[in-house]
Amino acid sequence: MLLFLFPLIFLASAQCNIYQCKPQKVEFEPDQCIFNFTATTYYLSLCPEDQYCPPITSPGNSSCEAIPNTPQQAWPGETCNVNITCAFGTCQNKFCQGKTVGTACTQTGECNPGLYCSTTTNKCATQITIGGNGCHNDYECVNNAGCNITGDGTGQCVGYLSVEVDDEIAQCANHYNLLCESTLCGTINGTNVCGSSVASASIIPMMCTSDGDCFSEGDPALGIGYGSSCQCSYGFQGIKYCGLFPGDPIASNYFELLKAWYSNANVTLCNSLRRDNPACVKSHWSTKHALEYTYFRLWYQMYSQIQDNDECVMQIYTSNFWNSKDEYDEYGNPDPDAEYNLSFSSSLVISGLLVLMF
Ligand SMILES: *[C@@H]1O[C@H](CO)[C@@H](O)[C@H](O)[C@H]1NC(C)=O
Ligand SMILES: *[C@@H]1O[C@H](CO)[C@@H](O)[C@H](O)[C@H]1NC(C)=O
Ligand SMILES: *[C@@H]1O[C@H](CO)[C@@H](O)[C@H](O)[C@H]1NC(C)=O
Ligand SMILES: *[C@@H]1O[C@H](CO)[C@@H](O)[C@H](O)[C@H]1NC(C)=O
Ligand SMILES: *[C@@H]1O[C@H](CO)[C@@H](O)[C@H](O)[C@H]1NC(C)=O
Ligand SMILES: *[C@@H]1O[C@H](CO)[C@@H](O)[C@H](O)[C@H]1NC(C)=O
Ligand SMILES: *[C@@H]1O[C@H](CO)[C@@H](O)[C@H](O)[C@H]1NC(C)=O
Repeated sequence: MLLFLFPLIFLASAQCNIYQCKPQKVEFEPDQCIFNFTATTYYLSLCPEDQYCPPITSPGNSSCEAIPNTPQQAWPGETCNVNITCAFGTCQNKFCQGKTVGTACTQTGECNPGLYCSTTTNKCATQITIGGNGCHNDYECVNNAGCNITGDGTGQCVGYLSVEVDDEIAQCANHYNLLCESTLCGTINGTNVCGSSVASASIIPMMCTSDGDCFSEGDPALGIGYGSSCQCSYGFQGIKYCGLFPGDPIASNYFELLKAWYSNANVTLCNSLRRDNPACVKSHWSTKHALEYTYFRLWYQMYSQIQDNDECVMQIYTSNFWNSKDEYDEYGNPDPDAEYNLSFSSSLVISGLLVLMF
């Protein structure tokens, strides 16, 4: 294992920007929170509680600013307090109210839950149910289904995460299709079929230099392997890490929660574009489930970025994830699984090794 890691570590060093809390001896201007010590090394300092630090990723300095007092925008079907919180329509009985069926529209965001903006009539139209034909994209299907788009650009609405291993789907771009139970797919003898839910081939987090270093276990049904993308962390080492596969514990937890949300009747209360958005999930699922959903979704999506984060990075660059973790932990009953802890601590073990080596 270690022998295998050594050459990678050398290749991997200094590929990405380095972000870390500033050393004590480095002096900052008053209000300054980021300083480009080199073109690729950024020193950070935390802002007072009522301020925030605008993050930068290219050379320059950044200074603390007042947190802007603009509420997050809500789509039709999501909770609101006043009219201006609604991206479209008005705030009625604490939910944003959009356009009703048959009303003229220019985009699906304007239409109420259960509707989409038809490009043929330019009016809000009722979503196509599972098994129904004529969709051009997922947003024309009910919220828990996607469009199985065939060669002529139209298709049938099929439930998300429902197509079993070896069963056929019309498209397989980058080995991904959310209609598949596993989200993975492959092309076998010219036919696109769903794959098995496989995990990373290596212990995670896995350091990498390019996408070619990131591969899954072999899929026993399709006889192929899958790749994931190699992305920079916002870490103090300038190292890249491989993305997760659906069979990895964090990812499988996220997809289980996504599946549970898609089987919840309340998914129909979201605007079509916001079917999986944490803000809409929060508006209509229990607090416990919504916190868990947001946490695992961000953990899966930001997996590379959140490795080797120090305290300053957690607040300035990756606060989305770390705040969701805090909220989830504080709510209690975090269901701490040994495997999740392993994925954090093994990163620390590897960092420890690195420090020893150089
Ligand atoms: C950036 O910050 C450093 C440290 O405070 C300072 O010496 C330098 O003048 C600043 N550069 C710019 C362009 O503001
Ligand atoms: C820091 O950023 C400033 C502004 O872009 C640039 O002029 C300066 O050369 C950078 N410093 C380093 C060490 O890259
Ligand atoms: C929102 O706008 C509607 C229509 O303009 C108005 O009738 C209603 O009073 C407004 N509601 C709030 C909470 O401001
Ligand atoms: C998706 O469409 C293809 C036709 O291109 C068809 O063979 C396949 O059975 C469809 N899949 C599902 C799950 O409906
Ligand atoms: C692919 O096609 C070849 C030749 O027609 C056949 O021998 C093979 O069994 C097929 N493979 C699968 C997985 O269907
Ligand atoms: C759906 O939403 C309603 C109203 O917000 C809530 O009372 C109910 O518990 C939710 N149902 C589920 C299954 O989450
Ligand atoms: C996982 O980590 C948390 C926080 O560090 C700790 O409270 C919990 O006991 C750990 N769980 C296991 C199973 O080790």
